[in-house]
Amino acid sequence: MNKLIVALDVETVKEARELVARLREHAGMFKIGSQLFTAAGPDFVREIAGAGGRVFLDLKFHDIPHTVASAGREAVRLGVSIFNVHAAGGGEMMRRTVEAARETAAREGVTCPSVIAVTVLTSADPATLAETGLTNTPEAQVVQLARLAASCGMDGVVSSPHEVAPVRAAVAQKDFLLVTPGVRPLHAAHDDQKRVMTPGEAVRAGASYLVIGRAIINAPDPTRAAAEILAEMRQAEAAI
Ligand code: C5P
Repeated sequence: MNKLIVALDVETVKEARELVARLREHAGMFKIGSQLFTAAGPDFVREIAGAGGRVFLDLKFHDIPHTVASAGREAVRLGVSIFNVHAAGGGEMMRRTVEAARETAAREGVTCPSVIAVTVLTSADPATLAETGLTNTPEAQVVQLARLAASCGMDGVVSSPHEVAPVRAAVAQKDFLLVTPGVRPLHAAHDDQKRVMTPGEAVRAGASYLVIGRAIINAPDPTRAAAEILAEMRQAEAAI
């Protein structure tokens, strides 16, 4: 299985289409987040999914349970492979969203996407948590939210690669998905990400998927950057 998810964090459909064409061979999935979705809307998601591409719809829903569950139904109808919500939205929000997604998929005869929960953003450090009133360390907060997500029937969580091992230790389900942004090849800039690892380290730590944006899409040669990262990931997988 290809564990590389490329974040299509670009301004226009034209740029996104070009990246998809160049990276199709190397990316296991394409992530459409708030920037591209706000610019291009659901049509572009349908376009990629309709052409057989796998899509992670990264809109990090966080609202009252009814609204998030309803948004989840629409994500199922779009044909995405993964969509996510903020675990901080609470247990009822997550339970109702998973139920709504599974019920919609069964009714419409389509495969249910994996529904995963964002724990603590990889750009956050202890000071970021403290300014919102959270006294937990990032790791303790991630583990607490991952336990809650698992108990609500969620399929996995998003966390930094540093929390993969603690989450694996805290959650019993072997197939619980651990999706990790905050991955940087050794010589790449860290940008605004604070809790980072290299692709090989993240795979060895037990990540199910790595989300990589700028280190690929802003590289002088994105195809080559993706190929090198994938080779590093496969080497690490082979050594597990
Ligand atoms: O460019 P970079 O590799 O940092 O991109 C990471 C992507 O993962 C961005 O699209 C960002 O929105 C997303 N993401 C994240 N941290 C999370 C969840 C998603 O960085 N906890």
